[in-house]
Amino acid sequence: MKWFRAAAALTALMMLAGCGQQDKETSLMTVTRQADPISTTAAAAGTTAATSASGTDATKAPAPETTAKKTTKKTTRQTTAKAPETTTVTEAETEPVTEPVTEPTYCEPEPEPEPQTEPELHRVTEPEPEPEPEPEPEPEPEPEPEPEPEPEKPSDGRPAAPATTLFFVDTNESATNFTWDPVEGADGYEVKLKKDGKWQLLGETSGTSYSAAGIGLDRNYIFTVKAYKMYNGEKIYSDRSRNCAFPYMTQKNGLTYVDGLLIVNKTYSLPSTYGWGLTNETQAAFNEMQQGARADGLSIWICSGFRNYAYQNQLYWNYVARDGSQWSADMYSARAGHSEHQSGLAIDVNQASRYFNGSAVAQWLEKNCWKYGFIIRYPYGKEDKTGYNYESWHVRYVGKEKARRLTESGLCIEEYYGLTSVYS
Ligand code: DAL
Ligand code: ZN
Repeated sequence: MKWFRAAAALTALMMLAGCGQQDKETSLMTVTRQADPISTTAAAAGTTAATSASGTDATKAPAPETTAKKTTKKTTRQTTAKAPETTTVTEAETEPVTEPVTEPTYCEPEPEPEPQTEPELHRVTEPEPEPEPEPEPEPEPEPEPEPEPEPEKPSDGRPAAPATTLFFVDTNESATNFTWDPVEGADGYEVKLKKDGKWQLLGETSGTSYSAAGIGLDRNYIFTVKAYKMYNGEKIYSDRSRNCAFPYMTQKNGLTYVDGLLIVNKTYSLPSTYGWGLTNETQAAFNEMQQGARADGLSIWICSGFRNYAYQNQLYWNYVARDGSQWSADMYSARAGHSEHQSGLAIDVNQASRYFNGSAVAQWLEKNCWKYGFIIRYPYGKEDKTGYNYESWHVRYVGKEKARRLTESGLCIEEYYGLTSVYS
């Protein structure tokens, strides 16, 4: 390992010399023996000031009784329990706590991920079948010209069926909202629900969205949106309906949404070019939460917010180099393209380390973050579902209603929606 570290350090120095680009977080990079160790002292200096919070929701929102009890129990357990054990933590006890690693010792390109293969059930849209290649005309002994077949247009003048649309479902307690891509030439769209084995028409529209009230959530429901064209008073439907079962998964432009939530974990990744910073909603929700914490006498700040693909790649490979294995780093650091920080929806609060677990702020966050639209994304005891060690500091913005639903359920995103979080 010594030769490796020496070589790594040398490479790092060369990289530093050749690379003047250091963003705020990169300049803070000190690899410590902690889980996801962003330098918190320095990060505190970069505290995001909360200026625009209205800050009354925490008191207005109903406290989920059961959750409050659950979270208190959990927090107590965590306060007294040892931090989740990993190779990283074990090493922390035997090696110096901090060692300076300025830049990644090397930045190997991320190996190309295997193509994602989602269960068919969850696919909203399948690739259109490749058009059959025109068969080579057989050399005819008789030069009889064959009449040209017209497979696309029936001879009675019926138009071809419209193409199938990609649809998207987002649910809240009062409505199930459908949106879809417009289909060229379509006269309208029918939105249907399959319930208890029977299809029922929810409604139809000539637009590209539909909202149905009172459907509620049920894993057994299947939805479809079918485009149609009118011909002599008859509806000609898109040739195949695209069904979407709970949890309403939509994959589009390399992004995976479930129930309107952008899913980022070990199974579902983001394109390398995705992400521009914290989303406005996430920043505003954090500002509001900061006000709420302040009202309770606590100070919170953003320790690490948006991280782009390249930066996450640096972080991850730094940890791999430090720990000597991907297996170890994978328990607390996401591979590039798989970090929620790249989505602009995740924030590490105050201190991204296991020493934050059980602190007053960690307890406050666990009890209150749902009121502002956040969830603790990697809860204690859910490591096998989320794929990551407990992170009391990492909150994910999901919006207030989903945060309440998820928190009340006591389930992590993967459990709630029946998703995996594993690298392929
Ligand atoms: N620490 C979390 C898993 C990340 O790297 O995104
Ligand atoms: Zn994080």
